[in-house]
Amino acid sequence: MTLNERLERIHDQIQQSCNSVGRIAVALYDDKTDILHTFLSSSEENPFHNYQIPLSQVPSLNMLAMSGENRLISDIPASLSDSNSHHSKQIVGSGYCSSLTIPLKLQGKLLGFLFYDSFEKDDFSVTMQGTLNLYAQLICETISHDLASIKTLRGAVVTAREFSRQRDEETAAHLSRMAHYSRLIAMEVSDHYQISEETIEYLHQFAPLHDIGKVAIPDRILLKKGRLTDDEREVMRSHVLRGVEIIDLMIDEFDLGTVRHIELLRNIIAGHHERFDGSGYPSGQQGLDIPVESRIIAVADVFDALTTQRPYKPAWSFDEALTQMQTTESAFYDPACVAALAKRRDDVEAIRRRFVDPPAD
Ligand SMILES: [Fe+2]
Ligand SMILES: [Fe+2]
Repeated sequence: MTLNERLERIHDQIQQSCNSVGRIAVALYDDKTDILHTFLSSSEENPFHNYQIPLSQVPSLNMLAMSGENRLISDIPASLSDSNSHHSKQIVGSGYCSSLTIPLKLQGKLLGFLFYDSFEKDDFSVTMQGTLNLYAQLICETISHDLASIKTLRGAVVTAREFSRQRDEETAAHLSRMAHYSRLIAMEVSDHYQISEETIEYLHQFAPLHDIGKVAIPDRILLKKGRLTDDEREVMRSHVLRGVEIIDLMIDEFDLGTVRHIELLRNIIAGHHERFDGSGYPSGQQGLDIPVESRIIAVADVFDALTTQRPYKPAWSFDEALTQMQTTESAFYDPACVAALAKRRDDVEAIRRRFVDPPAD
């Protein structure tokens, strides 16, 4: 069962005693970027689909994050008269009249916010708030348990990669940038390809693991300065299947078989060198037969490689990279994913500025 399905179940339970609660939603917070982004919603009636904003730009939530207190708004339309907040307007536009917002914290760290929205004014009695607080804790723990499993997995991978540091150009900054690009692309194409917000979060979390198989490639090939021979290229390409083997082993060793969306992780590793026209490897899958997560990662990964300085080439500008991906190499990539990057230019540039490679020595 996905987290979102769990949330829907909890919503059903709550509605048995309070049927005017129309929506439960969770937004997650990333303290590295200060970005708060939508994650789960129990209702189709969701005014904030695929939405993200720096927490510092939402003073009311920022205050809750600091105080740790809940916020009860018993009459949203009335409270709107003294608020120009875009958020409140969105909420009212969807017919919600009162809301309870709970900051989700774990060991003092902000995980995100939980929102209960109701179609009735004054809907949250003191007893009701007590119950909803308990549910909030349950939801918080479920989410953090899931995210912690991924963290363990990522920790294991980072450790493995530490042994081979300096071995290739996959810097920590590259992995952060491509993970963020992946999220942007996924958000843009989510309606088109029906990708849930939950899936987008996992895609973002798993993206840095795409090249884990490179730990199995010998230095003489991975670090070779000149052109690879045909045989060497074959060995290099085996990093994809080795990656799948490694991750399967780690899932066994760390007992992570219960991590949700593990299939998504496998597809990210297995499919990140497939090409839209079928000329990629290892399977030569084509077009929409390639899982959408693989298509997204491929675009994010290549775009970052193009816009980053490498020993053999300077960093290309946003426009240069995009032109290359939309002309000479256009057949390789899902055009919707490339178009998504083009559309989010400002966000892409912000990510480039935020995660900068350390200067080469
Ligand atoms: Fe790769
Ligand atoms: Fe990469």
